[in-house]
Amino acid sequence: MRTSSAIALLSAVIAPHVAAQTSTSSSATTGSTTAAESPVTGKLGNATVVENNPPGIVYQATLPDTAFAKSAYPDGGNVKGQLTAVASPDGMGVIFRVQFSKLPKTGGPFLYHIHVDPVPSDGNCTATLAHLDPFIRGETPACNSSLPQTCQVGDLSGKYGKIDKDPFEVTYVDQFASTLEGIGAFFGNRSVVVHFANTTRITCASFAQVANGDGGLPASSGCSAESATSSSCSSTGTGVLAPTASSNLTTPALSTGGARPTTTGTASPSPSQAVVSAGTSVRLGSAAGVIAFAAAIMFML
Ligand SMILES: *[C@@H]1O[C@H](CO)[C@@H](O)[C@H](O)[C@H]1NC(C)=O
Ligand SMILES: *[C@@H]1O[C@H](CO)[C@@H](O)[C@H](O)[C@H]1NC(C)=O
Ligand SMILES: *[C@@H]1O[C@H](CO)[C@@H](O)[C@H](O)[C@H]1NC(C)=O
Ligand SMILES: *[C@@H]1O[C@H](CO)[C@@H](O)[C@H](O)[C@H]1NC(C)=O
Ligand SMILES: *[C@@H]1O[C@H](CO)[C@@H](O)[C@H](O)[C@H]1NC(C)=O
Ligand SMILES: *[C@@H]1O[C@H](CO)[C@@H](O)[C@H](O)[C@H]1NC(C)=O
Repeated sequence: MRTSSAIALLSAVIAPHVAAQTSTSSSATTGSTTAAESPVTGKLGNATVVENNPPGIVYQATLPDTAFAKSAYPDGGNVKGQLTAVASPDGMGVIFRVQFSKLPKTGGPFLYHIHVDPVPSDGNCTATLAHLDPFIRGETPACNSSLPQTCQVGDLSGKYGKIDKDPFEVTYVDQFASTLEGIGAFFGNRSVVVHFANTTRITCASFAQVANGDGGLPASSGCSAESATSSSCSSTGTGVLAPTASSNLTTPALSTGGARPTTTGTASPSPSQAVVSAGTSVRLGSAAGVIAFAAAIMFML
């Protein structure tokens, strides 16, 4: 069970990178392009890859108990679930863990997006405004998920797939959304909205920071966000991520208030190091390097 989860996770994390590489090489070798092939991008161009996300800061948006679209749950209740997000250890892109269940029986496949504004205290999902779209692409036509840089930054279901099963769980790395405050792609002060297929808003939740940038690792442990992928770390932190060196996919380490030690003491070469030293791809290397983090999130929740 854990092994198969880890494998699914591995594919989920690496697939977008492979897709990106494929699209880069194919566009580079395109000789004669027809107009139909050139994708719609933002008025300000394609979304840019954010390379300096502060690692370790975890943001979470948890759906409320009551739906905004009351008609979707005549007897009360709501979609259950959350988005959890943390920057990749190398600061390139953000790992998203998406978990939804108890969706309405009809009206799918469901969509979900990061919206510009947070949810006001009255829970009004309309007030979250439109999708996060700093490059001004617009919602239509729907973007090509093979070219996520051409999509609205906040269009997560457009880039990584609609909610087509219940429960729905997926983990991926998005290169464009950011945990870096001050830039348009920053989502920590915004919200996520779940929609019917016809875009009617079912429910929404604001992101909140649930762990800080030092990854919850105590200064005295010799661990840091930077060293976390290359050395063993333990944590007495407050229930946050503590990736281990070995990147042992079947045993991601996590900290639960210091109750559990997270180190095994032996540092075997990580997938990240193996891939990089094989010289195949730095991007693949960084993808592999985030697996411990993604796995830690997965098992933390
Ligand atoms: C956006 O990216 C696509 C796919 O790589 C490319 O074809 C297009 O030329 C880019 N557009 C701009 C404005 O950079
Ligand atoms: C959207 O779909 C839902 C579920 O099928 C339905 O209840 C709602 O009325 C639809 N909204 C619009 C604007 O058609
Ligand atoms: C919800 O917010 C929208 C946009 O701000 C507003 O037009 C609408 O009146 C609000 N609805 C309620 C019930 O407050
Ligand atoms: C999406 O982009 C890929 C890569 O450029 C291309 O092969 C494919 O035809 C595009 N799909 C659509 C529906 O435009
Ligand atoms: C969220 O943060 C971004 C970047 O720091 C800022 O531009 C935007 O105004 C903020 N939005 C809200 C609703 O606070
Ligand atoms: C991962 O951890 C498990 C349990 O501690 C152990 O049995 C397994 O050999 C480890 N695998 C690797 C590749 O280190």
